[in-house]
Amino acid sequence: MTAMQTVSADQDGQPKGYDPLDPIVKHEPYPYYKLLRRDEPVKWLPGLQAWGVARYDDIDALLKDGKTFSSGQFWPALLGEYDPVPEEAPMISMDPPFHMQLRRIANKAFVPSKINGLRDRTYQIANELIDDIIAKHGHEGEFDFCWEFTALYPVTVIAEVLGVPTERRAEFKHWVDDILSAANRAAYGPEKLAEIAASSMKTRNFFEELYDDRVQNLGDDLISTFIQTEVDGQKLNRNQILSMAILLLIGGVETTTNLLGTTLVELKRHPDIYNRVRADHALIAPLLEEVLRYNPPVQIIFRHTTVDTEIAGISIPAGSAIMPILASANRDESKFDNPEVFDIDRKIEVPLMSFGQGPHFCLGNYLSRMEAKSALEVVFSRFSVVDPVSDDVHWLDSYFARGPHSLPVRFKVA
Ligand code: HEM
Repeated sequence: MTAMQTVSADQDGQPKGYDPLDPIVKHEPYPYYKLLRRDEPVKWLPGLQAWGVARYDDIDALLKDGKTFSSGQFWPALLGEYDPVPEEAPMISMDPPFHMQLRRIANKAFVPSKINGLRDRTYQIANELIDDIIAKHGHEGEFDFCWEFTALYPVTVIAEVLGVPTERRAEFKHWVDDILSAANRAAYGPEKLAEIAASSMKTRNFFEELYDDRVQNLGDDLISTFIQTEVDGQKLNRNQILSMAILLLIGGVETTTNLLGTTLVELKRHPDIYNRVRADHALIAPLLEEVLRYNPPVQIIFRHTTVDTEIAGISIPAGSAIMPILASANRDESKFDNPEVFDIDRKIEVPLMSFGQGPHFCLGNYLSRMEAKSALEVVFSRFSVVDPVSDDVHWLDSYFARGPHSLPVRFKVA
């Protein structure tokens, strides 16, 4: 299938340009990214008042140049007035020097030695969720892989890291979904916007109560650690901790959930690979890497120019919004052979762009890979069949986050 065949056309039958807010583009953005890389690697996007950047080298360079391309507006650009803690920017939306200070603290909790300590717990959590599914649906039938498994699994892991009670994990997923959908706020009516505002408020209230409880009853969880930590002799204040905890919840929930859902979608599309991976669990890791490359959970991130600059020969004024399209970089023809082909045997010679690059490189990259691998090992061991019912995928309504909104699967217990 060529790119031209799958892009939408205007009234005159001309292919329409890339507009991230167009529902057809959100459903299948890759043909548009391909055209952008070829024809317009730096494109002004009027709907978002931002410059989209599509090629790997340009994205790599700008993400490593935090002086020219600031992260300071990331959260306001993504969430607008729906930020649960507007008083205090989270780490992802900070520039040096404070970013590095906070990042050093957070890194300690996410080093591989700590994360490996969670591995047994990830197997347990995945097994418990599957026990619940079997208790509810029997040994054979259908369940929603997204809502009954992937939506609950990473949220349980990150809730344990943060020291958050897990009973309300299904609510977290709704809150995080709503908050992230604020990226589409320009396209929503008052009803949806009111829902987003309510979820943002509930998230904040929840973490305020939790913080106030932890201040009185310190534990060995991450929120207690943040409460006791000092930066330059100063303790972090309440809003800084709320902002960090909510960032970890948002970062830790939606992304890994979507990685797992999309993996099942790709396995449905590639039955040969499904059979190989089922027969040999050592292929789960390369499978996940290829899903991360080919159909990544985070499609786009945000930067702002601090000075007049240039990307690929296009002049960009100071104060411009920039949207590096990570998912396009992962299919850049100059970096990946046959990039439009899903191939778990490929040799990847440059870092994937899926977790970003430079100082803000994803804090949770090791955790999410480990969690996702554990989950698939358990799913394939416990079910002899786990197969999406339909070829049609109801993707999330987002140009930023990519994953199935729901995924009914047929299953059979092994
Ligand atoms: C497949 C799963 C994941 C993907 C695709 C992903 C993607 C990303 C990307 C692209 C960035 C860079 C943002 C930027 O440069 O502006 C990022 C940063 C971040 N991610 Fe992830 N993420 C994933 C999982 C996680 C998990 C599990 C956590 C937490 C538990 C997490 C927490 C964070 C945090 C805190 C940052 C900000 C780091 C900083 O500003 O220094 N992520 N992630």
